[in-house]
Amino acid sequence: MFIMHIALQGCLRAHDVEYGITADTGGHIRYLLELAQASARDHAIERIDIVTRAFDADFSAGDYRKPCECLNPKVHIVRLPTPDPAYRAKEALWDQLPAFTDALVDYIDGLERAPDVLHAHYADAADVAAGVKARRGLPFVFTAHSLGLPKRQCAARAGQGGQGSHSGHIDHGAVEALDRRIGFENVALAQADFVIASSRDEAEIQYADYPAYEPGRIRVIRPASDLQVFEKAEPTPRVQRMLERFLVEPDKPALLAIARPVTRKNLASLIRAYGESPALQKRANLVILAGGRQSLDALEPEIADNLREMLHLIDHYDLYGRVAYPKQHRVADVPGVYAWARERAGLFANVAFNEPFGLTLLEAAAAGLPVIATDSGGPNDIIEQCHNGVLVNPCSTDAIAEAALALFEDVPRWQACQRNGRDAIRLFDWPRHVDYYHRLLARLREPQPSRRGRNTPCQRDALLACDIDGTLVGCAPGVRAFNGWYHGQAHMMFGVATGRSFHSALQILEQAGLHWPDFVVSSVGAEIHCLDANGVTYRRDDAWQTHIDVGWSRQAVVDTLGDMPELVAQSPLEQREHKISYLCEAGSDIAPRLRERLAAQGLDARVIHSNGRCVDVLPARASKGAAVAWLADRYGVNRERAYVAGDSANDVDMLKALPCAIIVANYCDGLVATSGLAHAYLARATHARGVIEGVEHFQAQSHVS
Ligand code: GLC
Ligand code: MG
Repeated sequence: MFIMHIALQGCLRAHDVEYGITADTGGHIRYLLELAQASARDHAIERIDIVTRAFDADFSAGDYRKPCECLNPKVHIVRLPTPDPAYRAKEALWDQLPAFTDALVDYIDGLERAPDVLHAHYADAADVAAGVKARRGLPFVFTAHSLGLPKRQCAARAGQGGQGSHSGHIDHGAVEALDRRIGFENVALAQADFVIASSRDEAEIQYADYPAYEPGRIRVIRPASDLQVFEKAEPTPRVQRMLERFLVEPDKPALLAIARPVTRKNLASLIRAYGESPALQKRANLVILAGGRQSLDALEPEIADNLREMLHLIDHYDLYGRVAYPKQHRVADVPGVYAWARERAGLFANVAFNEPFGLTLLEAAAAGLPVIATDSGGPNDIIEQCHNGVLVNPCSTDAIAEAALALFEDVPRWQACQRNGRDAIRLFDWPRHVDYYHRLLARLREPQPSRRGRNTPCQRDALLACDIDGTLVGCAPGVRAFNGWYHGQAHMMFGVATGRSFHSALQILEQAGLHWPDFVVSSVGAEIHCLDANGVTYRRDDAWQTHIDVGWSRQAVVDTLGDMPELVAQSPLEQREHKISYLCEAGSDIAPRLRERLAAQGLDARVIHSNGRCVDVLPARASKGAAVAWLADRYGVNRERAYVAGDSANDVDMLKALPCAIIVANYCDGLVATSGLAHAYLARATHARGVIEGVEHFQAQSHVS
């Protein structure tokens, strides 16, 4: 396979990348270079070109005009010229894009072999890729890295009225650039063959307000990072000298931040949080690594403005001797800085207004530092997966200071976060990432599914819908047995019915090594997605959405239940248009009590209490069972051949709704004693093995082999 990346921003080069030299020379470049290297290790990948723009950089000695630079024998950086030879920041690149697209089409036409797929990084590159696709028919995939719309929303959150209004006035040029970018991102959503997101937050929240949003066309591939240097990191004498000259008591714990000083990173709030909390100042030093600089006056305005504000705040709160903010550091120093903070039982802080993913949180985890992270963006997912710290509202300086103090003072918790983080980073390694990425790209190249006919639902006359947690997953040998067994069920469609959201479901299946399902009933039956013929993307069943919406009034339910002290709302990621979810430690009478309360307001909704602590409220027509029955009808599968399997109370209605119902041996919530389930088969085996056993039981009964 020949992959062509398109990436136009910042100063991209094969070696000694000058991170932070411009506002656009940040993490995405590192990501792209590491991805290309990791990708090239796969024998199936024959060639990778990273196409970027050639420019003169008077601010650097680096050669950014060189037409071709070699990273390794398979990977090259290719630089194509555009009419303006000067460096351009991302906001000013747009008028060069048509010429760049022409140059790229010419370049591709001149190759002996066209690339199999284009991979556009950032909105501007998507505009180029969409142009090449229109003219040469090449498929393209898109990675946003960071999105304009949440940026606009978070600027509003920060009360600044828009990007570039740092000093109080609105910069109309910047607003226009952001609008243009949002437009390109929407084109990417509409035109890309599929979109790669780095987190559920990006796939389900950050993209959700774009007009062309189609969740099934987005795949979450967890980013990866080479973290060994952070795992092995030790403080070096250089790092010690660099930081300790600022500090009166250098051995105190350190609250560490590493970020480019751009407005989004919100470093000023971190200094304010520290400056306003004498308790925190007593407890810890503040250490901020905010890029490098020769002279403030030579920097881009946004960076210079932010640095001036930081220096001003340090002076305002008189934090001399307690804050370290080195003027220069080398990339090679960074692991040592984390390690220096770890040796002082420190914490890492990323309080960006919005963080699309948050790679530094993984670096901190690898280096053994617990984290405090913004509750907006990718850190939601990281903290959920890694349990290595706490989320805070980045706009509340009190919340930041309190979270830091609480974690500094709770030593067992600090240690648990350190352990969890170190364990969890294995999930973010490159081999895992490129394996998934290459499987997706390979399907695009050859849209015919490898198992011929499987994708044509009409050729299959049976259907299996499994709950995920506690049913399909939970036992690794069971998963392997299931994969082998399912391979032999050529006439059967496979899908899941879960309380998780669509992207969360795909993520856990991928992690467990399970088949890509033909359909996903997610959010306890509130949503249905079906696999497209290309075998990669899914389509939401909008007719189902319309069907269940009848009689549903989300806001009225929230208003009616919102003030009940025993209910705690689940995270924003778990709340859907047709699903409102809470956690609740109250007894088993909670569901009837909620039903009563809703009925008293004339509201008809379904309330499901499962796993002892989850409460889901859904439209009356929505349930896993109704959704599976809907799919059986849609696919023309006889209900006698629609097998369903589950383990908990959120599966009850599905098990009741269909005759071939399977309860796995490790069931909970007293499932077996539930009335209306006498027809269900109780498997002797647990998890996925129980599913196999159950299907075979029903197949034997109906004499189907
Ligand atoms: C999953 C969902 C959660 C739901 C629970 C029970 O864990 O993430 O929102 O409450 O299933 O259905
Ligand atoms: Mg379950």
